[in-house]
Amino acid sequence: MARRGSRLARVAVFAGGLYRQRALLACAGYLGRDPMAQLQLRPGRVNPYAVYDRLRARGPLTPTRLGHWVSTSHSVCESVLRDRRFAVRPEDTEPGQAGMSFLSMNPPDHTRLRRLAMPASSRSAASVAGRFDLVSGFAAPLPIAVITDLLGIPDSRSADFARYGMLIGSALGGITSLRHARQLLAARGEMRLLFRHLSELRRREPRDDIVSRLVAAEGDQIKPDEMLPMCNLLLVAGFETTVNLISNAVLALLAHPAQWQALCADPDGLAPQAVEEVLRWDPPVQRTGRFALESLELAGQPVHKGQRVTTLIGAANRDPEAYDHPDTFDIMRRDGPANLAFSSGIHYCLGHALARSEAAISLRLLAERMPDLAPAGTVKRRKATIIRGPVRLPVTHAPSPRRAGECRPAGTGTM
Ligand code: HEM
Repeated sequence: MARRGSRLARVAVFAGGLYRQRALLACAGYLGRDPMAQLQLRPGRVNPYAVYDRLRARGPLTPTRLGHWVSTSHSVCESVLRDRRFAVRPEDTEPGQAGMSFLSMNPPDHTRLRRLAMPASSRSAASVAGRFDLVSGFAAPLPIAVITDLLGIPDSRSADFARYGMLIGSALGGITSLRHARQLLAARGEMRLLFRHLSELRRREPRDDIVSRLVAAEGDQIKPDEMLPMCNLLLVAGFETTVNLISNAVLALLAHPAQWQALCADPDGLAPQAVEEVLRWDPPVQRTGRFALESLELAGQPVHKGQRVTTLIGAANRDPEAYDHPDTFDIMRRDGPANLAFSSGIHYCLGHALARSEAAISLRLLAERMPDLAPAGTVKRRKATIIRGPVRLPVTHAPSPRRAGECRPAGTGTM
């Protein structure tokens, strides 16, 4: 009875803290018009680019209300991500167990674990017809198949696994309610069991997958309590992001019918550069950040040791200093530096080649087999604010096969 009471008290304290935080955020965003708060609220989820423009007008590096810094500039973001005087954690802190493995570690632990997690694999996607949800019916199956294959998750558990990925991904920008916290805790618990079971299996019967590689390296290269966070990282990094890249690509192309038609006319030749332009124009990961390990000057401003610089990837990718007409979506674009969709420096995305090829294969397939693809209803966006993409994207496609190049204008719909 006493234990139940103290558990209830802990839940009440947690819920109180959470709702107080939400209320403060809403005040700062809606009343104080603070751009960093707005990015975490509905206006920022719907159109973060308008918020970035307001921030950009204040200069390349501006102070935040919480005593840190934020940058919308491509060159400042890139230099922070590549500068070893910045790191993903302040110098004197340890990553938590539920953390994102080596993504939230500084060298030398980062270097040791990153080596173990190199992906390499691919499979093919299913074909669908009629009116369907492009996210669940097309964008999700390939990345789920690839990441479950890489990790060696049995097919019977891949749907559960996808659900855990979505939940953990949705919490990257913060926990939004008590219900969200409960779902997250339950998903983490189920994932822990799944990986414990899988590790035992692969210890007895190793296969050609990442879990087998991790259990074989257990000891000097990876500690037992580092395994689950690593699998967490690979799941969230390798699945949610790629689903959003494919969905964001379809959203962008259907909203720009001339570009969709150009792609349909040459799917093989244009799919990779269409993916590159989507990565620039509407990247699935909108921001990251680094802590200063020492006091230094950045873009003419004094950044003190321990302060964080938020690097707004989505803003840097539309920096007018870096790209001509940055708000224009143009799959023929040739100008400008490499976009920052996969970050830069030592944490540069380990799965970038895999994600690029999964997305290019998906776009090629769509353009070849469904050139008459058209929007068919209201798009629902994810609640997450770091990861950007639709959770539901209704489209139509006539079942009769057409030849590549036969495009129907995509129409306006409700994109
Ligand atoms: C479109 C898809 C993807 C996007 C937009 C994306 C984006 C990113 C970004 C921005 C980072 C660095 C974050 C930072 O600098 O703080 C990152 C790191 C990472 N990504 Fe990806 N990613 C994608 C797909 C993948 C895939 C398919 C995998 C693996 C199968 C993967 C595995 C990783 C890993 C392991 C890291 C951590 C690297 C490190 O800390 O050294 N990602 N990703």
